[in-house]
Amino acid sequence: MDKYNVLLIGGGGREHSIAWKLGQSDKLGKLYTAPGNPGTAQFGENVSLDVQKFEDISDFVKEKKVELVIIGPEAPLVAGLTDYLEEKDIPVFGPQKSAAMLEGSKEFAKEFMTRHNIPTADFAVFDTYDFDDALKFIQTKDTYPIVLKADGLAGGKGVFICDNEDEVKERLLYIKKDSTLSEAAQRLVVEEFLEGEEASVFVISDGHTSHIIHNAQDHKRIGDGDTGLNTGGMGAYSPAPVLSSEILEQVKDEIIEPTITGMQLEEKAYFGILYVGLMITENGPKVVEYNCRFGDPECQVILPSLENDLLDLIIAATEQRLDEKSIQLDNQYRCCVVLTSEGYPGKYDKGKNITGLDNTAENAIIFHAGTSEKDGNILTNGGRVLNVVGSGNTLKEAIDHTYANVEKIHFDGCYYRKDIGAKGLKRIQS
Ligand SMILES: Nc1ncnc2c1ncn2[C@@H]1O[C@H](COP(=O)(O)OP(=O)(O)O)[C@@H](O)[C@H]1O
Ligand SMILES: [Mg+2]
Repeated sequence: MDKYNVLLIGGGGREHSIAWKLGQSDKLGKLYTAPGNPGTAQFGENVSLDVQKFEDISDFVKEKKVELVIIGPEAPLVAGLTDYLEEKDIPVFGPQKSAAMLEGSKEFAKEFMTRHNIPTADFAVFDTYDFDDALKFIQTKDTYPIVLKADGLAGGKGVFICDNEDEVKERLLYIKKDSTLSEAAQRLVVEEFLEGEEASVFVISDGHTSHIIHNAQDHKRIGDGDTGLNTGGMGAYSPAPVLSSEILEQVKDEIIEPTITGMQLEEKAYFGILYVGLMITENGPKVVEYNCRFGDPECQVILPSLENDLLDLIIAATEQRLDEKSIQLDNQYRCCVVLTSEGYPGKYDKGKNITGLDNTAENAIIFHAGTSEKDGNILTNGGRVLNVVGSGNTLKEAIDHTYANVEKIHFDGCYYRKDIGAKGLKRIQS
């Protein structure tokens, strides 16, 4: 087959960057994105499919002669979209439900790591209906901070770091009562607090062979200096200086290899993108969590650094031929600043006119996240609106190029962090 018609599932900044990268491939036939955004529309057609209706997706694939489905976000993976499409002989890139459990259940992930001696924080698991047991356990331990985590998918809202017993009691009550957590918090993981700096490593695996694509550090909190509420992600930079080549070797040998072989041994061969969230502690790297897909906004700094044809790489993965491939990077630094609507992650307005999108310099790319198009104008349509990604020979240059381009874009109530990448700069300079 020369050209592949592709259906990309998702509609955020991550999916725009994937569509942008796929658009550079000679192998790309027609690209459909569901639901997509005005950014993905530049590379193909956006289609309004309900990703929870698996049958609609397989009907669309048959009708449009789609030859490959690429799944961006975690929810359809954890819900088993891969398994459903595979049963219908539709080639798909993304882990099966049983492998996506690495993200879908923190309890599964922690116990998996214990079974395979993969370094992670000490933990215990409790049933939501026995929170007294959890409290007793924490009281006996009596070391703070302590981390409480809802077992299931919680969109970044299921983790609580508590500094004392009162806070633990308050959080336990909240977790029990909050209806948005009721599914995710059937089980509760109580975890030792790890001191250190976080970073993530992104891996592509065909179930047997895996390659590290690249690494990054993201910024989850809304405010400068990592303050305020958690968000979906306010920015990222890549590579992360905290990941020295020595630590990366350790991550590969002690974490990635055993994860891929462990999943094989448990007959849940991991196929797709594996996101390994790490804490670099005094005692070496430890896993904070696994995700079963690219991060958003980390994907937006990683894919522009990748010299390989992404579609070629993904096809090789679907055909279990990753052993024939190696990863090529362009050795540039990249920084991504997320422009958000004022009020996010709380309430915010939509429909603000965005200007300045055409003024981008050569050293920067703009990815759309929460935008919409009306009569040729681009409007805000979400909390996280746009991603500005700048590159440079040094991290400092990448950050400067990014912010110079951020300043060209305007909409009412535009808010962004001013310190994306600062932690990395500090580490390089010290
Ligand atoms: N054991 C831990 N020690 C210190 N910080 C933690 C620990 N576990 C989680 N965190 C912090 O909480 C954040 C969210 O936790 P994570 O396990 O990644 O859950 P999710 O991304 O599903 O919300 C992490 O990025 C990290 O900053
Ligand atoms: Mg996380």
